[in-house]
Amino acid sequence: MNSTTIPVVPLAFAPFDVTSPIATELEEVERILARSLRNSHPRVAEVVDHVRHYRGKRLRPVLLLLAAKACGRVTPSHLTLAAVVEMIHTATLVHDDVLDGAKVRRRVATVNALWGTKTSVLLGDYLFTHAFHLASTVDLRACREIGSATDRVCEGELCQVLNAGNLDLTEEEYFHIIDGKTAELTACCTRLGAIYAGADLETIEAMTRFGRYVGQAFQIADDLLDLIGQETLAGKSLGTDLEQGKLTLPLIHLLASPVAEQAREVIRSAGRNCRVELQSYLVEAGSLQYARDRALELANLAKAELAILPSSSSRTMLEVMTDRAVQRDS
Ligand code: IPE
Ligand code: IPE
Ligand code: MG
Ligand code: MG
Repeated sequence: MNSTTIPVVPLAFAPFDVTSPIATELEEVERILARSLRNSHPRVAEVVDHVRHYRGKRLRPVLLLLAAKACGRVTPSHLTLAAVVEMIHTATLVHDDVLDGAKVRRRVATVNALWGTKTSVLLGDYLFTHAFHLASTVDLRACREIGSATDRVCEGELCQVLNAGNLDLTEEEYFHIIDGKTAELTACCTRLGAIYAGADLETIEAMTRFGRYVGQAFQIADDLLDLIGQETLAGKSLGTDLEQGKLTLPLIHLLASPVAEQAREVIRSAGRNCRVELQSYLVEAGSLQYARDRALELANLAKAELAILPSSSSRTMLEVMTDRAVQRDS
């Protein structure tokens, strides 16, 4: 394997299908999602159906359900909340694709490519409000947990947009951004899994940290994909971080390396070949390896948190998922 290749490891990859302990529950979540996103107005239904039918990896519902089972058992509240987190995630993607000017998502055209910015903004809002309405059918605590996590997700995206083009972004600021836009929601998933399984406070806190570390590692791996991944495997537009002037961990490392000046020039030009032109600098400066190592470190921290749980197939699958979060090409 060369330094720019990351192996293919989808969630349902043999010999470990990580969804196996929660397969029936996951089907029920799909039914809840399909039911909640039904719309009787033909024009609206066309747009809503676009996101209703396209499927991502379902990472967040899987994390929530596995956490629930590993902490005790899956309850009806978990099923509803798994649909809620996937809806929130999808809302953020619809908005994010506008911000990134992305053309492809989940192997099909983005909402903004098909219907434009106005429709994307409103569809994202529609998904957010649906998610909050659905959360309100659980209880007040669910609304509070989902509300505060979504707050922080939006703050992370805002912080990122406000730093677009800032080539002096620090690692600390980068971690603040990814902790908000990505890790907050994965932390919320594993936390809700633990809470609604009746786990004690210590376990809830450990599962929250687990989800946070997984989310951070997952986003670093995603940022590597944006620089060196293949669109056909990822199923989404890549290279948009550079196009939008979003500095990610490998780039922050590169801009503090001996080839920083040359790299700065390439990034400033933000030309079409920027991604290709930067590759040799990223390898030369060890920036890809640096980011991979940081992601692996976080994955190890995540797995250490699971020691609080009794051994079970769900706990094992959470460990497998953590490894796959950092070794993926989609
Ligand atoms: C994409 O998330 C956004 C990031 C946080 C990197 P996923 O990679 O989980 O997207 P889907 O749901 O599988 O499409
Ligand atoms: C994650 O960031 C976006 C959200 C958490 C909403 P990215 O912009 O890197 O996600 P992708 O690469 O478009 O999926
Ligand atoms: Mg994006
Ligand atoms: Mg990305």
